[in-house]
Amino acid sequence: MAKSKLKKNQSGRMLKGSGLLFAVATPTFIVGLSAISLKPTAAQGGPNPKLVQLGRALFFDEGLSNPAGMACATCHNPTAGFSYPVSMINEATGTVPGAVESRFGNRKPPTISYARFIPQGPPTFDPRQQAYVGGLFFDGRAANLPGQAQAPLQNPNEMNNLVHNVGSPALVVSEVESGPNANLFKQVFGPEAFSQPADQVFQQIVQAIAAWESSPEVSPFSSKYDAYVAGKATLTAAELDGLRLFTGTVNGRPGGQPYVKNAECSSCHVLAPQAGQGPDLFTDSHYYNIGIPRNENNPYYAQTNKVTDPVGYNALGDDYVDLGLADFLYPDGGLVEGDSLGIKGTFKAPTLRNVDARPDAEFVKDYGHNGVFKSLASIVHFYNTRNLTRAPGEVIDFTKPNPYEGLKGKPFWPRPEYASPETLINPAGHATGPGRHLGNLGLTAKQEADIVAFLQTLTDAPPPPPAP
Ligand code: HEC
Ligand code: HEC
Repeated sequence: MAKSKLKKNQSGRMLKGSGLLFAVATPTFIVGLSAISLKPTAAQGGPNPKLVQLGRALFFDEGLSNPAGMACATCHNPTAGFSYPVSMINEATGTVPGAVESRFGNRKPPTISYARFIPQGPPTFDPRQQAYVGGLFFDGRAANLPGQAQAPLQNPNEMNNLVHNVGSPALVVSEVESGPNANLFKQVFGPEAFSQPADQVFQQIVQAIAAWESSPEVSPFSSKYDAYVAGKATLTAAELDGLRLFTGTVNGRPGGQPYVKNAECSSCHVLAPQAGQGPDLFTDSHYYNIGIPRNENNPYYAQTNKVTDPVGYNALGDDYVDLGLADFLYPDGGLVEGDSLGIKGTFKAPTLRNVDARPDAEFVKDYGHNGVFKSLASIVHFYNTRNLTRAPGEVIDFTKPNPYEGLKGKPFWPRPEYASPETLINPAGHATGPGRHLGNLGLTAKQEADIVAFLQTLTDAPPPPPAP
């Protein structure tokens, strides 16, 4: 996209209009099926239960990878809140191996719970929030759930259904046809289902998976927090303090009477202004750069071998920087210079529902797009202290050309993976706009712990059923 086509607005910033998006979207955008096919019809009173049953079975089907052995549920498992169920991997790397075990993806698996509520892509600019919104994946490159499901099946670093290094819907179809769910598939799509063109059968496969992902089993609203909102449970003193800090209000709702302290979490991980006004999703699905550090233990940095991973290898090696939304919206893998849309290093804010869901207390989960944080306590401490050093009162200013020059104390955190002041939220470490103290929140240790206690109320219960 020619930069000259962008008009500057009065403040000198490039105009970010949603009209630009189709012009800059790369051909890799995954459009997917229209969401209409998933909507319940009046006659059915909900999505076809057989379709949902089929989708669930396909989601757990380990025959849908090449070589066999990896299901969607291998990476998005109910035992870990629909994220990665192997504690050791979460702790050691954060990003996870694919069906070909020597290969790793560049990002960690997010939860799929509540993904059905993420606004349809492609991401568009929301002037009210001054940020892009919508789409699936950390970078919004899939429009909707059926479109998204096509990707992991054909990703060389995930389920690896490729023929001659090109994604092969036909291979996936043959796996379903010869697998344990063939009969169920025919019950849903007709006895001749597998006689249709492979592309059409493939669309039905992802449609079924998306139907299950849209079901209440995946987004049940059954957490302690939901019971509290319904008046059926009481929060402990610590949990309630955490909620009030999260929203900065006494009633735990945006716009309420100010609380003693505001951690400003709900400006991005939003909840409705009034109870019952809409589902509290704990995300606005907008894209922000919160400045999380690079994950030095991400095996993707070393995945530079074109021979062992001809399609999914990392050409930049150690120099790889995940630019999030910019990797998708700028053509050919990114603008070398400049950032006309102001999106480099921004990632979609995830829901915080099920953020603490884990099989047992010892189990380690990882957080952030690259999995660099290994506990909720550490990421909350990060929000509180990103711009601070061990010298009391010293604040790191990321708007300076060399923010680390002349610092007296050791910074609490390694530098952000992408530190540009243009996208980093509150780069100076002193609020530059209302409600943006990110990086220097001034929370006590007790207040940090209370926020974690509150996040733990967002785990759905009863525990999701085990895999079939
Ligand atoms: C090898 C692990 C792995 C497998 C297998 C896998 N995923 Fe994922 N999934 C990921 C990762 C990593 C991401 C984030 C990637 C990114 O943002 O670029 C992701 C993202 C997603 C998202 C987007 C969530 C959001 O908030 O935007 C959905 C939905 C999803 N996967 C569903 C599926 C389905 C359906 C399957 C099976 C067809 C599947 N995944 C198989 C690792 C996996
Ligand atoms: C400016 C918007 C914004 C604010 C304010 C904000 N977050 Fe986030 N949050 C994000 C984004 C964006 C991500 C994903 C960033 C990434 O992966 O690079 C995220 C990620 C997280 C995660 C990791 C979730 C996961 O599954 O990996 C947690 C936990 C979290 N935030 C909690 C909080 C808490 C607690 C607060 C308040 C102290 C807060 N956030 C304030 C935008 C925000």
